Amino acid sequence: MPVIMFSRTPNTKRPRHGAFSLSRRLLRGLALCLVLFSLAAQAADGPGRNAIASAHPAATAAGHEILAAGGNAFDAAVAVSAALAVVEPYSSGIGGGGFWLIHRAEDGFTTMIDGRERAPLAAHRDMYLDAEGEVIPRASVDGPLSAGIPGEPAALAHLAGTYGRLPLAESLVPAIRLAEEGFAVDAHYRRMAGFRLEALRASEDATRLFLRGANVPEEGTVIRQLELAATLRALAERGHDGFYKGEVAEKLVNGVRAGGGIWSLQDLADYEIVERDPVHGEYRGITVTAAAPPSSGGMVLVEALNILEGYDLQQMDAATRTHVIVEAMRRAYRDRAEYLGDPDYVDMPLSRLTHPQYAAGLRAGIRLDRATPSSLLPGVVDTTPKGEDTTHFSIIDGDGNRVAATLSINYPFGAAWVVPGTGVLLNDEMDDFSAKPGVPNVYGLVGAEANAIEPGKRMLSSMTPTFLDDGERIAVVGTPGGSRIISMVLLAALEFSEGRDAKAMVERRRFHHQFLPDAIQFEPLAFDDALQLELQSRGHELQPLDSSYGNMHVVIWDLEKRRVEAASDGRGVGKAEVR
Ligand code: DON
Repeated sequence: MPVIMFSRTPNTKRPRHGAFSLSRRLLRGLALCLVLFSLAAQAADGPGRNAIASAHPAATAAGHEILAAGGNAFDAAVAVSAALAVVEPYSSGIGGGGFWLIHRAEDGFTTMIDGRERAPLAAHRDMYLDAEGEVIPRASVDGPLSAGIPGEPAALAHLAGTYGRLPLAESLVPAIRLAEEGFAVDAHYRRMAGFRLEALRASEDATRLFLRGANVPEEGTVIRQLELAATLRALAERGHDGFYKGEVAEKLVNGVRAGGGIWSLQDLADYEIVERDPVHGEYRGITVTAAAPPSSGGMVLVEALNILEGYDLQQMDAATRTHVIVEAMRRAYRDRAEYLGDPDYVDMPLSRLTHPQYAAGLRAGIRLDRATPSSLLPGVVDTTPKGEDTTHFSIIDGDGNRVAATLSINYPFGAAWVVPGTGVLLNDEMDDFSAKPGVPNVYGLVGAEANAIEPGKRMLSSMTPTFLDDGERIAVVGTPGGSRIISMVLLAALEFSEGRDAKAMVERRRFHHQFLPDAIQFEPLAFDDALQLELQSRGHELQPLDSSYGNMHVVIWDLEKRRVEAASDGRGVGKAEVR
């Protein structure tokens, strides 16, 4: 990667040459100059400052540390991801996976690094069903049998090697330090550990690392993870193979199998990230670029925005506006349940689902005065989602490179099971498959054939790292929150489309509809009494939530004002910082 020197003032002086007198060598020199000139000019178009918003202050600091050492946004993304893997063990980790949506400023290249977990090769369609064909409670949520083959280590090695300026080992330094020195337990950690206490107690290593006396640690307790530091060092020293082959791989497979799981060395050796074209859409002059399958995020977001494109939301009263947004969510989430899965295993009508004319057809079925019962739409079954874990961060560096990354081990503390001797906390992402068509997962999401378990397949996700670009401002957006991730990003995109800033996007009160259950869930204070009555009179069932949800992190680059801003969700403990 060329090192681009940033200059705040665009270089407007072009060198003059008499073309006819140039030798081939000179021509080559000229071509090189032009490339360097155009790189410098594009660099000069960057915001000039680095902005990071992540779910933890130590992770934001890790990213800035790597940028200050000469790294770009992609190196910083490695540092932030790895730091979050240490200080937010309940959210993401090297035992999990995620999606890194990236944009390289120098040539405008945009791609999504798919580091999603895969089903082990020994997995099969009915692996979570009992002899009567019923789903075995918790089998896809707790312990090693619920773990997919991790993708995050491969994604970090790929990010550093293909897009970064610094060696992987350098970008992993802050995370290794955090693992060795430890981090202090806060109230959020205590809530998450309390929620998963029973499951954590079933794992000797998880109990030793994340609990004290088999109970939730007091605030301020320092959590050190020396084995995790050693595993991160193996990744730093040997890259991809440091995790997927050799000593670490053997410990992982032996540990998982001893705990009742089905991983093999072949599973680890076979794991590869995939670069995928993101999903694109247009909404009222905004170019939307978001996660592609195996995430449903981009498709649901774009389909919902396409439906909403036909309404002038700003001119509508609050009830009608909320109603049509809900109806758009309902229809887009229905299509998620019906059609989506791993693109390497299933054919999906993605271009139809994201086509404005398809949305126009759906819009025609929306009545402004009446909710459409989900049972009247063709499709699948039901329950209630949760989601306070998983993580997201947003970065724009001084050159305009950007990263939106949403990473997960699924449930709080994932499978709640640490592989002995590795410090690797396993994901329980297998629950994102449809264990049985129509039977909801922990987020209440239902799925069909397309998301059934198959060996080596990636489970469908809702993670929605997104770029929004209206020609004047570029936003990098995302959040955790299980099935509600997509509706949160949708609401944030609507805020952006109305000119609001990063803070307004993360602060917005949230509501959600996911087709099934057929109810609008909403945060405290999202709807006043009058709005609730109005929605009920249109036939909507309301499900008030007793707490808020989501943990959104947004960075916006205002191209006209040459300014960057960053905001972290007040619902979490994250930190946004521009340097
Ligand atoms: O990939 C997915 O859609 C889920 N595993 C994400 C889980 C999540 O966001 C949990 N938390 N809030």
